[in-house]
Amino acid sequence: MKYQSQKVAYAYFMVAMGLFAIQVLGGLLAGWIYVWPNTLSELLPFNIVRMLHTNALIVWLLLGFFGAAYYLVPEESERELFSVKLAYIQLAILVVGTLGAVVSYLAGIHGGREFLEQPLWVKFGILVAAVIFLVNISLTVLAGRKTAITNILLMGLWLLSLLWIFAFINPDNLSLDKMYWWFVVHLWVEATWELVMAAILGYLMLKLTGVDREVVEK
Ligand code: HEM
Repeated sequence: MKYQSQKVAYAYFMVAMGLFAIQVLGGLLAGWIYVWPNTLSELLPFNIVRMLHTNALIVWLLLGFFGAAYYLVPEESERELFSVKLAYIQLAILVVGTLGAVVSYLAGIHGGREFLEQPLWVKFGILVAAVIFLVNISLTVLAGRKTAITNILLMGLWLLSLLWIFAFINPDNLSLDKMYWWFVVHLWVEATWELVMAAILGYLMLKLTGVDREVVEK
């Protein structure tokens, strides 16, 4: 670790691992309910366990992206992060939002659209966290060295954050509802996440294999 501010990635990693554990436990419980359908049927019905399983997945993955960006951007940009404090505030907002979503789901309050079940205030929290993140990362990159890795990473992260805005649009018409849902869920997994992954994998290849930057960037 070359820069002090890269340490913030560790906090993101730890929270992501905690959520991964929750996801796997939720998956095991959901699988158990398949076999013994009455398990916890009053207290924790299958649809709620399923929501916890899939939502934990989305949040740990996003935390992984955010944490990885906070780790690799200082090295690529050859400078400290714009603000470590903002990075921790962003993490705190995401943790509070996640806990809020879990409590809401346990109380049976949710949006009902697969993967986008979060109550509205949690969706706003995610938006605020995304804006903080984009400001923090973009200002770091703009002030420092620009590489293909940071360019691709920023493109992916900006696009995925912008697409999140469609999560707020939920028309009564089922076809339109599915279209806006698709703009978030599908364009995340089949468009923007690949850009983020390409940047992270490019960085890992540079670090692990010693291949020329020129080759990796191409
Ligand atoms: C011990 C590990 C796991 C178990 C037992 C498990 C079990 C399950 C079960 C029972 C469902 C609900 C299926 C249904 O609705 O009928 C589910 C859904 C899902 N799981 Fe897992 N899971 C595990 C790990 C994972 C992991 C590691 C991921 C991804 C990183 C994942 C991603 C998903 C997704 C995306 C869905 C929703 C699928 C859909 O909507 O079609 N699961 N899982």
